[in-house]
Amino acid sequence: MSLSGSTTRFGRLAQALHWLTALLVLAAFLVSAGGPPERVYSTARASTLLLHESLGFSVLCLLVIRLVWRLFDRIPDAPAMPGWMELASKATHWALYALLFAVPATAIIGALFDGHPVTIYGLGAIGPFSGAWGAPLAEIHGTLGDIIMWLAGLHAAAAIFHHVFLRDRVLSQMVPGLPDPSSGQGG
Ligand code: HEM
Ligand code: HEM
Repeated sequence: MSLSGSTTRFGRLAQALHWLTALLVLAAFLVSAGGPPERVYSTARASTLLLHESLGFSVLCLLVIRLVWRLFDRIPDAPAMPGWMELASKATHWALYALLFAVPATAIIGALFDGHPVTIYGLGAIGPFSGAWGAPLAEIHGTLGDIIMWLAGLHAAAAIFHHVFLRDRVLSQMVPGLPDPSSGQGG
């Protein structure tokens, strides 16, 4: 398998970026800062918040790399399936891409305009700025953070359903070494 994709599999780079992103989103969610601002921005939680923000920044950086690479990469053709299913799968993928942008973007803009400086990997801070819409945006961030987890869960369940019940190559084209159940070939 090469760095670029083929008609039947995502390439090494697209696979690596997909799984690293999934891991980082899960980690950011698990360490997410909940509760009132006094708790979120308390000194006791400063290192957890820095970890949460750094994981989230990394998601945003990976998204940029992934979308640029996608312009040059060969994206596998969808295996044979009903039109509605192909449409639902494409809509889910683009909704996930939109959330991979919107979740970190609402957090960064929300925090900055709610009067909190945002540190980039703890190296230096930007902001804060003043604005009335910072706090509602930060709240939207939390909700979108929950939505991306639900949608990713549904997306993962659909991929496993394809593999186990429909026995097509949907899951195997994203998993290194997993054989395609419709041809019996790995890679
Ligand atoms: C994919 C990446 C991210 C995910 C999945 C995520 C998820 C979440 C979730 C679910 C919450 C709400 C927790 C709760 O109320 O129980 C939250 C809160 C928060 N997140 Fe993120 N987040 C991500 C990226 C970021 C980034 C890049 C920043 C950088 C500024 C950030 C800053 C915050 C802050 C400050 C809060 C507290 C919001 C408040 O109520 O004021 N997050 N995040
Ligand atoms: C936060 C977690 C995840 C996010 C944000 C995410 C996002 C995405 C996106 C945006 C695509 C579209 C790729 C493209 O065409 O450019 C994709 C494809 C795919 N994902 Fe995920 N994913 C996540 C987790 C998972 C998990 C846990 C699984 C499996 C158990 C999975 C299985 C797949 C498969 C099989 C494809 C290829 C599907 C196809 O081409 O029809 N993903 N994912």
